[in-house]
Parts: sequence; structure tokens; C-alpha cells
Amino acid sequence: MLAHATPSTVRHKLQPLVSLTAFPGPRLLVLNNKGGVGKSTITTTLLRQLSADGQTPALVDFDPQGSSIDWAEENGDFWAVDDDPRRERLESMRLRVPANASHVVMDSPANLDPRLLNRLLDYADAIVLPTQVSPMDVRALGRFLPNLLLHPRYRARMPQLGVIANRVSDDSDTELLERFLKPLNLPLLARLPERKPGQSLDTPLWPSLKIWLKG
Ligand SMILES: Nc1ncnc2c1ncn2[C@@H]1O[C@H](COP(=O)(O)OP(=O)(O)OP(=O)(O)O)[C@@H](O)[C@H]1O
Ligand SMILES: [Mg+2]
Repeated sequence: MLAHATPSTVRHKLQPLVSLTAFPGPRLLVLNNKGGVGKSTITTTLLRQLSADGQTPALVDFDPQGSSIDWAEENGDFWAVDDDPRRERLESMRLRVPANASHVVMDSPANLDPRLLNRLLDYADAIVLPTQVSPMDVRALGRFLPNLLLHPRYRARMPQLGVIANRVSDDSDTELLERFLKPLNLPLLARLPERKPGQSLDTPLWPSLKIWLKG
């Protein structure tokens, strides 16, 4: 099942596929209920940096906006599939990834439908939560995190969970966020600066995540 028949996906057609459920991992979920915090930017940055590291990541875009899948099709030889439940009845047929992909990166929408969150938590081996660092953003994270940490499917599988601070201008910017994360024992995995207009984020993100995933 291909998202769109671009030349790269056609090339990928010859690869053996497995369902997302059967993929041995790691499956990285980029998640935050709040809109516009950088989920798709971080998803695409990860794809780019994984690829530069010689890895072969695949993308599953759960956001009907399709920002990540659009980027993946324009920016390289990535396997990319979206999640359109109308297309085929069986999820295992719809959401397939190359069996030999090194990683699956999953982008997700804002304002999560509870049924979608259930499914995402069944797939995720590790979850990265991008957030901005203003008091308003930290408060929003504070409202979302209990839903996640107490979610039966999160508790059943206990995927790794870490936070990425996005659009940070100064180290002191993250003080409030760090105070909030400390009692929860959640790591701040990276601080990403404001991207310069017209450029992609070149701050190393994958190297930090790679160490965290192994730890
Ligand atoms: N570090 C950054 N520097 C500058 N602009 C950024 C940065 N991160 C994200 N943005 C911009 O902020 C906007 C929202 O980012 P993005 O689409 O990644 O967020 P999102 O969480 O995926 O949003 P949505 O909830 O709508 O899916 C985009 O215009 C993006 O280019
Ligand atoms: Mg997005």
C-alpha cells in the first residue's frame, strides 16, 4: 500500500513489507496534543538526520494534514505512508513498512482523537514530545502528560518517553520546562533553536536520540 506513486515509492515497491504492528522497531512516535509545537518539523529533521547517518528510516504520517509525507516525498528516497482508514479495511494491510527499514518515525496530529491515541500507543517503542518553552506551552504539556502517563496502553508497554524543547533562544529559556520535568523523571533530550528562514534545522537531534534509545 503506497501513499502516493512517486518515483521513490515505486522503487521501494520491490522491498518486502511488514505491518507496522509486526515491525521489530524501533518505532519513534512524535507526539503532542498541542498544535504547532514542531511535531512535523522534528519528524522531518529526524528523517533527514537518520538518513545522513546511513540509516534507512520509514515515515508513517498519522496527521491528515500530511505535512511530513509531503516533505518526505519531495526530499529524498524515503518510504512514506499515511493513515487513511477509508482506503482499506484492514490496518495491517494499510500500514506497512519495509521489513528492513532501520527505524519508523511516526508523526501525529494535534487534538488527538482518543481512538487514535490508543493505536499510537500500541505502536510506539519510544515517544518524543516536542514542546515550546513558554509558560503557556509548559502548562499545556502539564495538562496532556497525565493523560499519557496514566493511559492504560502506555502503562502496558511503557515506551521510552522524552521531551524536546523547540524554538529555544537561550539555555535559560528551558528552566521552567526543566523544573516541570524533573519530578516526573522525564529527560529533556534536546534544545532546538529558532530555525533561520529558508533553512532546515541543522542542530544535531538524532545523535542525542540515538544515545537515549540505547540507554
Ligand atoms: N525551530 C523552529 N524554528 C522556526 N520555525 C519553526 C521551528 N519549529 C517549527 N517551526 C514552524 O512552526 C510551525 C509549526 O511547526 P510544525 O508544523 O512542525 O508543528 P506541528 O506540531 O507539526 O503542527 P500541527 O499540530 O499543526 O501538526 C511551522 O510553520 C514550522 O515551520
Ligand atoms: Mg504537524
